[in-house]
Amino acid sequence: MKERYISFLNLSFPNKNPTKEQIKNLILKTSNLFTFKSAHRKSDYMSDEDVLRGYILYFVPVNIAKHYSIFKELFRYPFLKNKKDLKILDIGCGPAPALLSLFNLIEEGIIYLEQIKYLGIESEEKAISIAEKLISDLKPEKLIAESEFIKANASDLKIYKNLINIKPDIVIFSNSLGEIFEKREIELDDFIEIIRFFYYKNPKTTLIIIEPGTKKASISLHRLRDSLIEKIGLYPYSPCLNDLPCSALKANNWCYEERKWSPPDYLNFLISVGLQINYIKFSYIVLRKDRVNIKDTFEGDGEIIKNTSHLLREKGKSRLWACWKGELIDMEKLKRDFSEDEIWLKIKKGDYFSIDKYLKLSNKKVRLPKDCKIKILYSP
Ligand SMILES: C[S@@+](CC[C@H](N)C(=O)[O-])C[C@H]1O[C@@H](n2cnc3c(N)ncnc32)[C@H](O)[C@@H]1O
Repeated sequence: MKERYISFLNLSFPNKNPTKEQIKNLILKTSNLFTFKSAHRKSDYMSDEDVLRGYILYFVPVNIAKHYSIFKELFRYPFLKNKKDLKILDIGCGPAPALLSLFNLIEEGIIYLEQIKYLGIESEEKAISIAEKLISDLKPEKLIAESEFIKANASDLKIYKNLINIKPDIVIFSNSLGEIFEKREIELDDFIEIIRFFYYKNPKTTLIIIEPGTKKASISLHRLRDSLIEKIGLYPYSPCLNDLPCSALKANNWCYEERKWSPPDYLNFLISVGLQINYIKFSYIVLRKDRVNIKDTFEGDGEIIKNTSHLLREKGKSRLWACWKGELIDMEKLKRDFSEDEIWLKIKKGDYFSIDKYLKLSNKKVRLPKDCKIKILYSP
């Protein structure tokens, strides 16, 4: 996959080899816009050439990695895994990392799509033109990809009338929904009605919403999750194991993913200047109507749990925060009950695992006994 990143460098610096300083400055300029300066960010930031170049260098590879990891778990489900053609609608698509991630999965022989019809909705012309260049550079030879872009404001409810009739298999809002809602031109109830109609036209649609891994974005996303479940009857495919109200929100907490990825080589020097770039941090939901769930793709039985935290090593025990049956549970194992090479210690943040027995210490706390069989079912 790494070879492919060279297109991003060439697009940001045509006809010249940039210095590390130039790369770093562009990335920091764009990054600041999404963090410290987000309150003053103009909605047409993608039309600023430097911002767009910084976005191509860092955020496009990062967002490809997020989609890659989500699609990889979605395509575990046999109905999708065996699909040869796919219709995708990507709203606020930017430079189209969603489609580019599918190219990587096809090239690596993880999915077998032969034909993709992709429609991106985007308000910024420059982002569309970058998307078109990247698609033409990176499309696998054997894939038939029909990509089309509509320059439009996704807050304008009128555009959805036509989009719904496309009956997309997958509808994506990636790092765009927060921005669309921010402008307050679209209400939550309107959004829910739009999603309801997508499902009315195609009950097999998959809805993917990705947001940044910040506390604010994650809490808003999981509130939206709960509303979509309650009002339209959608069911999470991942990362949640059920449609119960979000356990993190119930516990006044928040939930996000932190997944390892391989950054492009041209970014490696950023580690030496103290930037943490080996992990991607984000929050997301994948929703469907037919109640299929990632756990249906796991082998084995027992209680299935999602670990939402890092393993916390403490004196005498180690603990993690388990999302389990709609509650955030403090799960522990005593040090005397495990050895240093045990599976328990290998459970990472985000992993799905099963247990065959436990001791209930309180409503919010369980202990795993020494002879508890633990199995890691899937590490995203
Ligand atoms: C943070 S970028 C995300 C781009 C891409 N989906 C990704 O994951 O990298 C948000 C994109 O949404 C677009 N956008 C924001 N508000 C929009 C709106 N109301 N209508 C259409 N596009 C919008 C922006 O121009 C920008 O390209």
